[in-house]
Amino acid sequence: MSRRILVTSALPYANGAIHLGHLVEYIQTDIWVRFQRMQRHDVHYVGADDTHGTPVMLRADAEGITPEQLIERVWKEHDRDFKSFSVGFDNFHSTNKPENEALCAEIYGKLRDAGLIATRSVEQFYDPVKAMFLPDRYIKGECPKCGAKDQYGDSCEVCGATYAPTELKNPYSTVSGAKPERRQSEHYFFKLSDPRCEAFLREFTQKSGALQPEAANKMKEWLGEPGDSKLSDWDISRDAPYFGFAIPGTEGKKFFYVWLDAPVGYFGSFTHHVRSKGLDEKLLQDFLRPGGDTELVHFIGKDILYFHALFWPAMLQHAGFRTPTKIFAHGFLTVNGEKMSKSRGTFITAESYIQQGLNPEWLRYYYAAKLNSTMEDIDLNLEDFVARVNSDLVGKYVNIASRIAPFIAKHFDNRMPGVRMGSFSGIPVPADAAGLAVATAQSDTIREHFEQREFSKATRAIMEVADAINKEIDGFKPWLLAKEIATDPQAKVKLGQICANAIAGFQLLTIYLKPILPRLAEAAEQFLNSGPLTWKNATLPIDVEKFLPTGHEFGQFQPLMTRVDPKQIEALVAANKESLKPAAPAAKPAAAKTSEKTVETATEQPAHISIDDFSKIDLRVARIANAEHVEGADKLLKLTLDVGALGTKQVFAGIKSAYDPAALVGRLTVMVANLAPRKMKFGMSEGMVLAASGEAPGLWLLSPDAGAQPGMRIK
Ligand code: MSP
Ligand code: ZN
Repeated sequence: MSRRILVTSALPYANGAIHLGHLVEYIQTDIWVRFQRMQRHDVHYVGADDTHGTPVMLRADAEGITPEQLIERVWKEHDRDFKSFSVGFDNFHSTNKPENEALCAEIYGKLRDAGLIATRSVEQFYDPVKAMFLPDRYIKGECPKCGAKDQYGDSCEVCGATYAPTELKNPYSTVSGAKPERRQSEHYFFKLSDPRCEAFLREFTQKSGALQPEAANKMKEWLGEPGDSKLSDWDISRDAPYFGFAIPGTEGKKFFYVWLDAPVGYFGSFTHHVRSKGLDEKLLQDFLRPGGDTELVHFIGKDILYFHALFWPAMLQHAGFRTPTKIFAHGFLTVNGEKMSKSRGTFITAESYIQQGLNPEWLRYYYAAKLNSTMEDIDLNLEDFVARVNSDLVGKYVNIASRIAPFIAKHFDNRMPGVRMGSFSGIPVPADAAGLAVATAQSDTIREHFEQREFSKATRAIMEVADAINKEIDGFKPWLLAKEIATDPQAKVKLGQICANAIAGFQLLTIYLKPILPRLAEAAEQFLNSGPLTWKNATLPIDVEKFLPTGHEFGQFQPLMTRVDPKQIEALVAANKESLKPAAPAAKPAAAKTSEKTVETATEQPAHISIDDFSKIDLRVARIANAEHVEGADKLLKLTLDVGALGTKQVFAGIKSAYDPAALVGRLTVMVANLAPRKMKFGMSEGMVLAASGEAPGLWLLSPDAGAQPGMRIK
């Protein structure tokens, strides 16, 4: 019986690149989707960019473009990255689309009609310079306990104290530097504390079977005891200016909080998928409304479980939509046992992986070999990655075809020699074919592992099959048989037998690996001349004569996959190494959601450089011979620097906000004298002066102690 499944992966934020952490999820989902399709189930796989919210708005602002331009650009990058890794969305959409807005309005309207929306006044940080309310994570200040500067509003990185954002001393906005105010504003809430929501969520999280056991337990903690519910109402509105959908009836003053419209984006994407491809409109009813026989399956990271297991199903349930059948949460990626880190070069983007010429299927295989159905974190160990791909994929699977193809081409006219069938515990299998017997016997087990998302168990079972086939080849010693053909007619029979057994086994392996390695499987299908393989050919009882009949002609054999060279990994890490901090505006990753995220941001230490690196920079004492305003420049002063023996240099410095030019003339400072000259709008800049700054506004030019002379080297 064919199942009908709508599958989603979480929607990546539209303000950053796809990295190897994201790919754990998209590859996991894609493997499962391909597997289900090979079972001939009817699967729709949709995704979208998650485009709304403050970070996108501020990022666009910092880049001097509109949010729409930013999300358009990022969408193209994401789409490209997913294609590179064969993540085969049927539709990759955006949350900033009309289908999504209409669905949000419908859901909101139904919740309001059901009495599940309340309004209440909320006090929040307000940035008077930017004229906007700011999430707490854009506020920094001094730790109320130890006084350390530049701490975020929830905890101090110096003394470890935790506190409320309002307790910070001398708080400032990381966006503008201004002192934030506390302001009241009216917010809209989804009444999760309503008894109807509570009753539904107890049933949904504990009894429906939608959650993994560990996730159900977590939800139990979050829900609290019946009669003593810990659910509080959920704030679903944000004040203008906000990049998002206006809440109907608020005259553009209030917007839906991004986490309200984001999951609705799954349905928006599916709607667009159906309409844009002219599919039957009835699919919308079947998949999005209650009562159908369809399944809705969400793949997500464990960090966003709360949103998917509580808010989202409660919204759907009370707005006349269907609820999720399954929510599959996975763990987080670490690289070499540690958080992904920009300074270590292990915060690796999908784009750089491709640019460095690595094969995306290596990563798909490695993740498969690591993934299971739990929420445990998974580790990408780069040495193990090389070893695993080379020994399993190249050394075991591909090796079978490389060993056998030449014999078939040379001695059998590139045709299937034919397998002699026998019987193995009631299942027909080739006589004397230990490898093929294992391949056959493992079929159902492997299928079940895929179904259960136990991909590491599946790959282990698959590699056992490959081992058995290689062992059988070793036993037959076809390279000796080939030499004996001329003198011993039995040798050709035996050679034919091992070739046939091995190739039939290889074909089964190709089927098993195809959900993980679609491109490699396609190349193998060309060699096998089999057409697109489905699981049907691997369903018991397996009759080789049916899928590879004697005399079947093979395609031309081409090498299927190269080995990973450890140097490629070194180059990849080097290419992702970054010793500079991320650019402003500095915002802490959203605390609740990202506290478990394995990504280091602002607090990480820059990578070490060698003394040789340092001595490449020619630092000199310089006397400011002249300083003047530049017409039309907001930030720049034009400096003429006397650098002793190096002569005079002209430098444009972004220090206008902090210095009056007249006060600078005559003073000593430090310059980088060997910076490549740069042509600016106002003329050539032949170096750079050094100044100190922090996250807050303010700028301090460096000066040497008295006695230093222009032109002196700083070492
Ligand atoms: N935009 C939200 C999801 C909205 S879904 C309606 C979001 N975006 S995200 O870009 O931060 O993450 C997208 C998915 O990738 C999430 O499921 C997240 O858990 C997953 N991952 C992000 N970083 C990851 C790792 N380092 N490791 C594993 N998964 C990771 O959350
Ligand atoms: Zn402190």
